[in-house]
Amino acid sequence: MIITSFQTSESDKIFSQSSTITKNKKYYRVFQAISVISIILVFIYLINTQNPIQNDTILKEIEQSEKNNGHNDILTEQDMDQLGLEFLDKNETQQAIRIYDYLHQKYPDNLKYLNSLAYAYFVSGDNKNAFLNFQKSLQLDQDNEFALFYTGLYYIQQQDNQNAKIFFQKVLTLNSKHEGALLNLGNLIYAEKEEKYEEKSAFYYMKCIESNQKNKECLYKMGILYFNRDSSYQAIKFFKLILDVDPQNALANCALGDAYYKLKQNNEALIYYKNCVDLLKQDQQQKELIYYYKKILQIDQKIYPEIINILADLYYSQQQYDDALLFYKQVIRMNPKDEKALLAIIEIYDKQNNIKEQIFWLKNLVELKNLNNDNYILKLADINYKIKNCSEAIYWYKQLFNKQNQNYNLALQIAQCYVDIEDDHAAELWYQKVLIIDQQNQISLEKLSELYYNERKKQQAAKYSQLCLNNYIQSLICNKITGFLYYDDGHYQEASQNLLMALKQDPYDPQALFTIAQTYEALKDYKKASFFYKKCITVNPIASIYKNLAECLLQIDDIEEAIKMLQKSIELDPSYQDSYLLLAKIYENQNEEQSSIEIYEKYYQIDPYDASVVIKLAKYFQKENNIEKSMNYYKFLIEIRESYEPAYQAISSLYLQQNKLDQAIFYFHQLISNNQFNEFAVAQYKYLIALKK
Ligand SMILES: *[C@@H]1O[C@H](CO)[C@@H](O)[C@H](O)[C@H]1NC(C)=O
Ligand SMILES: *[C@@H]1O[C@H](CO)[C@@H](O)[C@H](O)[C@H]1NC(C)=O
Repeated sequence: MIITSFQTSESDKIFSQSSTITKNKKYYRVFQAISVISIILVFIYLINTQNPIQNDTILKEIEQSEKNNGHNDILTEQDMDQLGLEFLDKNETQQAIRIYDYLHQKYPDNLKYLNSLAYAYFVSGDNKNAFLNFQKSLQLDQDNEFALFYTGLYYIQQQDNQNAKIFFQKVLTLNSKHEGALLNLGNLIYAEKEEKYEEKSAFYYMKCIESNQKNKECLYKMGILYFNRDSSYQAIKFFKLILDVDPQNALANCALGDAYYKLKQNNEALIYYKNCVDLLKQDQQQKELIYYYKKILQIDQKIYPEIINILADLYYSQQQYDDALLFYKQVIRMNPKDEKALLAIIEIYDKQNNIKEQIFWLKNLVELKNLNNDNYILKLADINYKIKNCSEAIYWYKQLFNKQNQNYNLALQIAQCYVDIEDDHAAELWYQKVLIIDQQNQISLEKLSELYYNERKKQQAAKYSQLCLNNYIQSLICNKITGFLYYDDGHYQEASQNLLMALKQDPYDPQALFTIAQTYEALKDYKKASFFYKKCITVNPIASIYKNLAECLLQIDDIEEAIKMLQKSIELDPSYQDSYLLLAKIYENQNEEQSSIEIYEKYYQIDPYDASVVIKLAKYFQKENNIEKSMNYYKFLIEIRESYEPAYQAISSLYLQQNKLDQAIFYFHQLISNNQFNEFAVAQYKYLIALKK
């Protein structure tokens, strides 16, 4: 900061003479010289092609004055120099560099142009070129104070403090009163913190002050030196000297506040701190402002509401939200109705995603009287809706609806909330309210059709979906509901038309896809039915839909594909029984007995109580001579269907096959005791008894 401030004053000094001359006749000169400048600029452009002219203010001025046409004066060397200084003055460094580059090439021995060029580079931040040109300048004249000083500054920027010191010393050998060199030397030594650094840097600062008693930077540095050594009275002396020169100096005022505060002279401190913050405010120095406002609060226990407010705002603008909250809440303690502070608190909690606090403070805000707080009520409702606290959201939407009873969007929100908490009756009521305000409200018509349909109130559903289609012929929902209603009533042609319309709006609506597939199945158009079942599966892959698809495929004799679909269905949901039965049946029809039995066995694992399947299995294994398996199935069969006589006979004959006469007799006995009229069994039984004897 010190460096820059010094640069400006230095350049002011160097350029001040010419600046004052130029200022008054600037435009006159510029306009006069336009045509020549354009020639020169073209020339500069040509010798500088890697650096094309961009954006140029010069060019703009040229254009402007070309409209002024007529003047044909020649631009002299002095005119160009003045123009360059003008640009430096306005910090248009690229333009200045162009001009001085040109002047330097034309007059290579002119130290002033070279220095100006280097300076322009320096100010533009192009340190490398600045350094190179100051080097050139020092080759022309090694006792060139200006170039020496800026080379010192260059080294500071390079953080090469040793070289910086060497160059400032060189400046001092030429001019022992050079304030910039003295100040920067003092700063460099102070920063090194080596032995006796305070005394050594004080030496340079004091020399600086000797050569100019009004040098604010040097005075300030001396003050700080004393302040840091707890010599507050000495510090105060120096700071006050600054105020003699510049009463509006923020730094000095702040520092005086600090010094008096250290001396516990709070009244004095307060006076300067207040000046300090007033001045800092103008400069928008927010961090420093926070610091000094807090100092003021520390000194004076009496609370200044406006300072609390300012601090809250400052912290807020610095995005230090926790501190901002602290101060805004203090504001609220002093004035519970401070709307701005309440809003700020809510906004901060919003940024921090703290919904609970947001709701708490919004309620505070809503409770304020004399406030048009509709927006806050709406926000409160919306937040509660967002966190799915529907009953609370409904409460606030209703509050607002009481005030704005033609605002059907509120009624819609309330209805939607009721849908969310599955209070369909209340939802219907509120959708009806919407229709009272806005007779053709699409959402309400759609929702009512849907709600009534889901409640199986088909007449109501038909009424609203028809009303809806009268106005919104393309409505997805209303076409769907109408399609469902037609399907339920067996009007398949009509159903297909509405469902196709629905699918035009959303080709992947799972319900519409499923119902239209069912519709085509009912119409025996199995190709279309298969097509839509397949599409349905892409959005909603469910075992039962695979089975439906397989059934349609069978109808169009695509048996291979049907088998694949059933296998997928079983893979997807091994507990879905219908697919096993259908698949086993297909294999049976194909005379693939073994495959069908495999499927039946799997099915038996899931549902052993289907007697027809057990019979199939028992018979199959009996035929295959798998006595053990067959016997097991028959025995299980007796458990689930005691009266099935062939099972007893089968078991007996299986035992006989194994020469187990007793067991065979046992099962015939069972059979006879269940049904003594089975003559074959009675005969067999008697025969076996005789055989045994
Ligand atoms: C002058 O312009 C340069 C950029 O070319 C910029 O870095 C610098 O801050 C400006 N100085 C002032 C005082 O506006
Ligand atoms: C809904 O909000 C009210 C009031 O803020 C609160 O008392 C209640 O616990 C909340 N309910 C739920 C489920 O979050």
